[in-house]
Amino acid sequence: MLDCTKEFLIESKLCPKICWYTEVDSTNNVARRFIEKENHIGFMVVAETQKAGKGQGERLWESPPGGLWSSLAICPELEPSLLGVVPILSAVGTAKAMETFGIKVMLKWPNDLLIKRNLKKIGGILVESKVSQQSVDYLIIGIGLNINNRMEQYSPTLQRRITTVHEEFKKELDLELLLQRIILEIEYSFENLRMYGTLSLLADWKKRDNILGMSIVVQSPEGKFQGKAVDISPYGQLILETPDFEKIVISNGTIILPKAKT
Ligand code: BTN
Repeated sequence: MLDCTKEFLIESKLCPKICWYTEVDSTNNVARRFIEKENHIGFMVVAETQKAGKGQGERLWESPPGGLWSSLAICPELEPSLLGVVPILSAVGTAKAMETFGIKVMLKWPNDLLIKRNLKKIGGILVESKVSQQSVDYLIIGIGLNINNRMEQYSPTLQRRITTVHEEFKKELDLELLLQRIILEIEYSFENLRMYGTLSLLADWKKRDNILGMSIVVQSPEGKFQGKAVDISPYGQLILETPDFEKIVISNGTIILPKAKT
C-alpha cells in the first residue's frame, strides 16, 4: 500500500494484509481513501498516532502512541438490513481477542469496551460503510484501544473517563499479536453470522453486556428517551421499556447512566 512504513500478510481470507503507518489523520480516512482510489478491499490500516482520530458523534478521538488505532477495510457477505449488527459483532470479536490476553472486558451498547473490574472505558468502535443497490460495497471497522498508553498522554478531561491496559494491569501487550487475534475473531463472527444468524452473536454480547436491566437515558438522533434497557434486537438495536411499559427500538445513540448514589 502507498507509503506505509511496514506491511505484512496474515492467514485470513477476509483481511489478509496489515499496513502500518507512523502518523495519519484517521485510520478510517486512510482506509476509505485507499478503497475509493484503488478499488481494493481486504486490508487493515494501523497507525502509531492519529492527528484527527474520529470518535462517535464526531468527537475527536485522542490517539497517542502505545494504543491500537486500526481500521479493518472489508467486504463480507452481509445483507444491508444487518448493518446495525456490525458494531455489535466487532465489539464482541475485540472483547474475545482481549480476553485471550487475560483482559476481561464488558460491553456498553452500541460500541464501548469497558474494563470489567471498574467499568472504565478502554476502547470504542466506529463503523463506516458504503451501501449501493441493496448490497454492502464495503465496511470500515475502526477500532481504538487504549493499550500500552500511560494516563498522562491523555487530556485531563479524558483521564477522568478512560483507562488503559497498562494502567490497570501494569503490563504491555504485543499490538501485532493483538490485532491479528482481533481480525481472526471478527472473521469468525462474520462466518458464524452468515451460517447461523444473529442468535449466538447476541448471546456472546449479552454475556458481556453492562446495561441490560438498568434504567438509563439514551440520547439518540430522534430525541432523548428514558426507560429500562431490556434487550438487543436481532438487528443490533437497543430495546428500551418506558415507565408505562411501551417498547422503544433505538438504532443509534449515546447512553447516559444514572449517577451513583453517594
Ligand atoms: C468511540 O467513540 O467510542 C469510537 C472510537 C473509535 C476510534 C477508532 S481509532 C481507529 C479508528 N480511526 C478513527 O478515526 N476512529 C477509529
